[in-house]
Amino acid sequence: MTLAGSDRAKQDEERDMAAEHWTVRDIPPLTGKTALVTGGTSGIGYETALALAGAGAEVVLTGRNPGTGNAAVERIRAAHKGAVVCYEPVDTSNLALVRDLASRVKGRFKALDIQVNCAGLTRLSPRQVSFDGFEMQLAANYLGHFALTAHLLPLLRASPMARVVSLASIAHKKGVINFDDLQSERRYSPLGAYRQSKLAMLLFGLELNRRFVAHGWSQISVPAHPGLALTRIFRSALARRPLMAELVDFGIRLVGQSAAMGALPVLYAATAPDVKGGVYYGPKGFLDLKGYPAEARVWPHAQNRETAARLWDVSVELTGAHYEF
Ligand SMILES: NC(=O)c1ccc[n+]([C@@H]2O[C@H](COP(=O)([O-])OP(=O)(O)OC[C@H]3O[C@@H](n4cnc5c(N)ncnc54)[C@H](OP(=O)(O)O)[C@@H]3O)[C@@H](O)[C@H]2O)c1
Repeated sequence: MTLAGSDRAKQDEERDMAAEHWTVRDIPPLTGKTALVTGGTSGIGYETALALAGAGAEVVLTGRNPGTGNAAVERIRAAHKGAVVCYEPVDTSNLALVRDLASRVKGRFKALDIQVNCAGLTRLSPRQVSFDGFEMQLAANYLGHFALTAHLLPLLRASPMARVVSLASIAHKKGVINFDDLQSERRYSPLGAYRQSKLAMLLFGLELNRRFVAHGWSQISVPAHPGLALTRIFRSALARRPLMAELVDFGIRLVGQSAAMGALPVLYAATAPDVKGGVYYGPKGFLDLKGYPAEARVWPHAQNRETAARLWDVSVELTGAHYEF
């Protein structure tokens, strides 16, 4: 079968399965709601922004590249006539730019109903350092979102039913928070740093919900993962190895799913009425790599409250972010 043929077959298979499962058709009306989707210019984030805007939410989507950002906005407007959506630039690895983004969002919205912490990159080789001096995957995938959420807390507070959805990954299973070398200065592994950043996102998503509960807030934090989805992320990581990138895409086509399917657990976490705070959602199918949204497995080390609290304290120290509950 050709690649186009296999993509078509996959789309047909996904359409047949969709009849019996939660899909974008089940998103409740979101008119009057506001949403922020980081990494909304591509892949999972784009599909999330598209569906939220399609359901009537006013959406701000972010990314580093204005060309891709504005093109994403145009595609969403073309798909959903009357969609209210705009692009805001940010590099989530840069704490000053994250603070600027939060200020602009505060200028635009009085309350934030849905925050999706989705921007991410993977397997950077060699090790890169962010503007603030942190290992790049930890900075862009985790620390920036930790700070952004703190800055936006007043907006979330203004929406009693607000949800914060943070993107983790099945990669958290082998993740380790290396408190002795959090920035991977002594030993760097591209995959190890990615796993650490995604475990950090899951620990954060669960800890944030515990803190909402402890402070008597009605807002919820709901971590989610997309399984294995065909997006730009692996291709970007393999930019200098195009043949390998083709192979990886081929493998994802075989065992994974489309970006639209990968976005479903995120959309479920963000909008489904029966979602509970502090529950992790992902695809329920072959090896959790694909399928329709369901409760996902949190490996024991990601449930460790001491690790989560310690990571929180370290993150406050590193980012200077202030969570005013
Ligand atoms: N695809 C999968 O199988 C998979 C599996 C598990 C988890 N995830 C997670 O899903 C999330 C989305 O990834 P994806 O697969 O949809 O990849 P993608 O297609 O490459 O999208 C990544 C998005 O993040 C943005 N981004 C990357 N680095 C950024 C930075 N430093 N600052 C601001 N924005 C940045 C990108 O925009 P710009 O490049 O324009 O900045 C883009 O909008 C990530 O958190 C990833 O870890 C994906």
